[in-house]
Amino acid sequence: MTNSLRTPSRNDLEAGAPPVTPTIADVDLIRVEGGARLNGEVAVVGAKNSALKLMAAALLAPGRTVITNVPRITDIAIMAEVLRRLGCQVEITPDEVPAGRQGPPPSVVVNIDVPDEPGTEADYDLVRRLRASIAVLGPLLARRGYVRVAHPGGDAIGSRGLDMHVAGLARMGAEISGEHGFVIASAPQGLQGATIWLDFPSVGATENLVMAAVLAKGSTEIDNAAREPEIVDICSMLIAMGAKIEGVGTSTLRVEGVEALSPVRHATVGDRIVAGTWAFGAAMTRGDVLVNGVDPAFLDIALDKLVSAGGVVEPEKTGFRVRMDDRPKAVDVVTLPFPGFATDLLPMAIGLASVSDGASLVTENIFDGRFMFVNEMARLGADIKTDGHHAVVRGRERLSSAPVRATDIRAGAGLVIAALCADGITEISHVHHIDRGYPDFVGDLSALGVEVQRAAAPEDPQFSF
Ligand code: EPU
Repeated sequence: MTNSLRTPSRNDLEAGAPPVTPTIADVDLIRVEGGARLNGEVAVVGAKNSALKLMAAALLAPGRTVITNVPRITDIAIMAEVLRRLGCQVEITPDEVPAGRQGPPPSVVVNIDVPDEPGTEADYDLVRRLRASIAVLGPLLARRGYVRVAHPGGDAIGSRGLDMHVAGLARMGAEISGEHGFVIASAPQGLQGATIWLDFPSVGATENLVMAAVLAKGSTEIDNAAREPEIVDICSMLIAMGAKIEGVGTSTLRVEGVEALSPVRHATVGDRIVAGTWAFGAAMTRGDVLVNGVDPAFLDIALDKLVSAGGVVEPEKTGFRVRMDDRPKAVDVVTLPFPGFATDLLPMAIGLASVSDGASLVTENIFDGRFMFVNEMARLGADIKTDGHHAVVRGRERLSSAPVRATDIRAGAGLVIAALCADGITEISHVHHIDRGYPDFVGDLSALGVEVQRAAAPEDPQFSF
């Protein structure tokens, strides 16, 4: 692992800013002053949820694959380690700094040298830290005919099954078993094309199945496939590698297996969830933010909600701009697979509702544990009642600062944004979760006019850049 770059999270105490004394020993935290309006310009780099899978897709071709516009976040360092343990050489170098930005680049270039015969095992010590490691299942089964990947289990947002990954691979002729916490798949004669109907358009299952199908014998059809922009990005890279895929961006993917793929250079698609976080932040704080690096079409429904709430959203050459002049009006939100409202923006929808004029009904349809973080929002004074997968949120003019705890990536970012609407100073602890999805979150907040400081926990030398 190269040490030429460091995780931004550990080094964000602004030069000259007074030191923050953590209230909880050894816990990293962000301290923000409420009342700020987000104003200015922010550059969003590649999507975590695409880059991680693009790295797994590199396993499909021996040789050097180069992925650019990769976010400089902890999860990427973990995925690099997963690949190294599979015998790949992975080098991470700084990417270009977006125009007008100070400091280290928020993105990196990942160079992956894949051997002729990559390894076949991903251990629990890494998989438990990075659920997305499961994305090596399809590519390794396709390349090696055998794979043993630790079962990632559930996490803070829900139970997170793997049944659709497994059932789809079984349809393609794999024998699959579960033993001692591992998913073991083998297809000694190679995978066979098949027709697969997914019960639900699972992002992870669609990715694993398409990555398995590109090297299978014959044709595969995946029905009710996920169609998130990140899936489109992965399919685009696979096509550039020589894969034959039709229906990209629709819910039916048709794949004609090929003998072999070649390595490529590919730029990661912009992160719509990070972009959406800034869009909601602008609306909640009655600010004005130009978000660069993401196509607003990826956020159609979310941005339309902001317009219904009274905001002004304008497409720009390099992204889009969001402005909110008055207190937002309450809007209802329902999360659904793309092109529906993204579940990863649910904490931001709850945040918006918490400060809106009126009552909002927010419905979560993807993860059973997404509402866990509303207890932290309640500590900030938000008026939220949940019942199953619904939450009724009665907006307040202002929230009230209190120490709160980030429980996952998106809840963490949502709490920081909500804290901007509180009176006084809020400390959000366990913000290492935010580092998993947002490169230099503190730097971006600061550039948008927020008084913000970061106190660091000791760095984990195993997973720093
Ligand atoms: N599911 C099953 N069985 C399966 C697969 C999924 O029951 O075989 C269930 C899950 O338990 C969940 C739902 O289906 O309740 C959706 O799961 P999906 O497979 O679509 O999600 P994922 O691939 O596990 C990715 C993102 C998530 C994002 C979701 C939905 C990555 C690494 N993660 O997860 O991102 O919320 O799609 O869009 O791509 C995040 O970035 O913070 C994050 C959680």
